[in-house]
Amino acid sequence: MYRSVVRGVGSYLPEKIMTNDDLSQIVDTSDEWIRKRTGIERRHIAADDEFTNDLAVAAAERALAAADMSAADIDLVILATTTPDNTFPATAAKVQARLGVTKGPAFDVQAVCSGFIFAMTQADNMLRLGQAKRALVIGAEIYSRILDWEDRSTCVLFGDGSGAIVLEAVDSEGANNERGVLTTILGTDGANYDKLYVDGGVATSGNAGCVRMAGQDVFRQAVARMSESVEEALEKAELTKDDLDWLVPHQANIRIIEQVGKKLGVSRDKVMITVQEHANTSAATVPLAMTHGVKHGHFKEGDVIALTAMGGGFTWGAIVLRW
Ligand code: UT7
Repeated sequence: MYRSVVRGVGSYLPEKIMTNDDLSQIVDTSDEWIRKRTGIERRHIAADDEFTNDLAVAAAERALAAADMSAADIDLVILATTTPDNTFPATAAKVQARLGVTKGPAFDVQAVCSGFIFAMTQADNMLRLGQAKRALVIGAEIYSRILDWEDRSTCVLFGDGSGAIVLEAVDSEGANNERGVLTTILGTDGANYDKLYVDGGVATSGNAGCVRMAGQDVFRQAVARMSESVEEALEKAELTKDDLDWLVPHQANIRIIEQVGKKLGVSRDKVMITVQEHANTSAATVPLAMTHGVKHGHFKEGDVIALTAMGGGFTWGAIVLRW
């Protein structure tokens, strides 16, 4: 049987930085409020001529370099995004061509902030089935283009960015002490469709629309869904919370992250936190945080790492892997 192993990670943040003070010039907010309620200090904003495929390609190239691989090694590209370049084709198709990947399928996955967990699960399934050998899994978003810059309750929370990983299928006995992805858990509860959504779209308004959110509902559900899905994924891998070395949660709000860590009994120094640097970049936060972890030498061989996210839909998921 096969198991997927992470061979390389990479991320990209656009050059332009928007601070909380910059935002206070646009809407009635303050650096103090944003830091205290969210932990966010700054976000990056894509240039006018930068598109989601540009962000995706930048992160993917870095992940390929880190994996010491080239486009010729890849036979699957999955891009998680809520902000595709065009309604169709999938932005992944453009990314595939720009990278020079010529084998296998390339497609987008839309699960909002949980998108990377959904995309990585899909890649893991295909690698385990022998349908591909090496996958590029990317999260790339330009939320600055779907924000209502007059709504202080949402525009302060998001930013643009991307992250990517290279996953490779390796032979495995299926034991939980071997390297690679051990378990994946996904969920959706569409009854919460209107708690976090964009008020536009091809079939409704014809415009892209703007993010609308019932913040406190999302907050509560995010804490519950992320902590529960990590517990479920650990249990499925026949591991417990005590086995967890690192928690890499979706980066939306420091208070959500802290509460998830607390529920799982993971000390703060074992929780990857990057939300202050880039705000909520939706499907890109998990690979951005993973890249931070690798760059700073946090993950040691054999570590048990849980990735988790929750987002619009509601969608949620968790992946437990051994590094
Ligand atoms: O991936 C999932 C995506 N989304 C999330 O994860 C977001 C989840 N929700 C949250 O992170 C939090 O609910 C928020 C950060 C959005 C809001 O924090 P909160 O502690 O729940 O604040 P609140 O909504 O209860 O608002 C408190 C006050 C209100 O004023 P009043 O009614 O008490 O006078 C808001 O109008 O803060 C006000 N407020 C602001 N003040 C300054 C809301 N946004 C701002 C702002 N600056 N940007």
